[in-house]
Amino acid sequence: MAEKGTVVIVGGTSEFGKRLAQHYAQQGRPVVVTSRDAGRAGSVAREVGNGCLGLSLDLCEPHNIASALANVNDVDRLVLLAIDRDDNTVRNYNVESAIKLVTLKLVGYTEVIHALVPRMRQNSSIVLYGGLAKDRPYPGSTTITTINGGVMTMVHSLAIELAPIRVNAIHPAIVGDSPYWAGKPAEVLERFRARTPLGELITVDDVVDATIFLLENRAVTGVNLRVDGGWMLT
Ligand SMILES: NC(=O)c1ccc[n+]([C@@H]2O[C@H](COP(=O)([O-])OP(=O)(O)OC[C@H]3O[C@@H](n4cnc5c(N)ncnc54)[C@H](OP(=O)(O)O)[C@@H]3O)[C@@H](O)[C@H]2O)c1
Repeated sequence: MAEKGTVVIVGGTSEFGKRLAQHYAQQGRPVVVTSRDAGRAGSVAREVGNGCLGLSLDLCEPHNIASALANVNDVDRLVLLAIDRDDNTVRNYNVESAIKLVTLKLVGYTEVIHALVPRMRQNSSIVLYGGLAKDRPYPGSTTITTINGGVMTMVHSLAIELAPIRVNAIHPAIVGDSPYWAGKPAEVLERFRARTPLGELITVDDVVDATIFLLENRAVTGVNLRVDGGWMLT
């Protein structure tokens, strides 16, 4: 068995995913990035380089996840960060998009773990992405608030069930330079920045750095780590 196994990043075409892939690929680790689209996965894998592989997988189709991952072996680090946002209010409820998002994070993430766990090592680790909409809801966030709350509780049961494999979650605040937020009007971003004791919004690199800490620190499991520049204190 190689000294260090494969790093799998589900949602590897996002900015977080790409930077995590680059970090591990630069260390010479085998890395797999996923996307719903094989072409996108392949092009990000080429961008990352160092033998990174792309794979297509749709978390909203959980019955097909195990076969999509059939050729992924010896998994050492697993990051689940994919999302397909659902801007859904209760008064104007879109059932299809709510089912999609609930399936994606709560069933899809779990099914990926179920499929890969027989191919993980005793000292492997998993990080799930939630978000602070779980604590700071806003109109339209009902589904996302609920699923991020689900991620928070999921890591507790997974960390017990899968031990000694470690399972943690990261819950970022608004990530100012992420593609989703970078294009928002300045006044919207300023409202969040003004409430952030750090004095600026957190960045993709801050979140990637915290993810690597959760993946690598051998004493940390069952933790929901808030990465928010102190936003939740105000
Ligand atoms: N950005 C923020 O400020 C922020 C704040 C708090 C929490 N978060 C969390 O951070 C994570 C990443 O967010 P992001 O802003 O980077 O999102 P993003 O840019 O929209 O990227 C989403 C990723 O998910 C993949 N994806 C979408 N639908 C999928 C599906 N059905 N099956 C499999 N993969 C799918 C996308 O790949 P393809 O499109 O290539 O398929 C892409 O790689 C999310 O879990 C989010 O909740 C982000």
